[in-house]
Amino acid sequence: MESAMQSGGDEDDIICLDESFFINDDYQLTTFKYGDEVLQLFCLQSASTDYDLTGQLVWPGAELLNNYLSNNKQILHGRSIIELGSGVGVTGILCSRFCREIVLTDHNDEVIKVLKKNIDVHSSGTVSHADSFAEKLEWGNNSQLKEILQRHPGGFDLILGADICFQHSSIPLLFDTVVQLLLFKGRGCKFLLAYVSRART
Ligand SMILES: C[S@@+](CC[C@H](N)C(=O)[O-])C[C@H]1O[C@@H](n2cnc3c(N)ncnc32)[C@H](O)[C@@H]1O
Repeated sequence: MESAMQSGGDEDDIICLDESFFINDDYQLTTFKYGDEVLQLFCLQSASTDYDLTGQLVWPGAELLNNYLSNNKQILHGRSIIELGSGVGVTGILCSRFCREIVLTDHNDEVIKVLKKNIDVHSSGTVSHADSFAEKLEWGNNSQLKEILQRHPGGFDLILGADICFQHSSIPLLFDTVVQLLLFKGRGCKFLLAYVSRART
């Protein structure tokens, strides 16, 4: 990422700001409840879109999907799952209590740091039973997807996405990745996408 430069009144007066100046990583341990399931994870309470740091907090789409999953746990039992645009990992971590294996993915390095931290916190407890992995995956990036599929050659039974179709330009790439995952597994693979519209009517 490039440093930001600001030119003042004096032409010699150039201020260079490192990217860390813009990044808030003051995460709070926050409690979430979905049906009978209570989980705690590190996240922010408000988002920055400057460097697409939207993944630093939990979005309404995750609340919707997690409530659905906690009421339909049978669809997770014994399954191998991949989540796209995981953010802090609230959906994948809920799934890790019921599924066999979960791969949580995101494209943002800063978001992946807090995602890994949350996975570590939950993997060391007794509630999560699944093998849980964090992977970098930018939608449409075929080499990253290929590496993930090499590490998980059986593919995935379920593809999950919460609040990930808010930016029109990235939707074709998102669906390109989803189609590849569906074709790789063949019959029986499902895609569950949850979104709460923020458009004003
Ligand atoms: C609105 S947040 C939703 C996060 C989480 N799923 C939730 O509902 O709380 C969108 C997430 O998608 C990720 N994302 C956005 N564009 C992406 C892309 N092109 N490839 C991969 N991940 C992307 C962001 O980093 C962010 O974590």
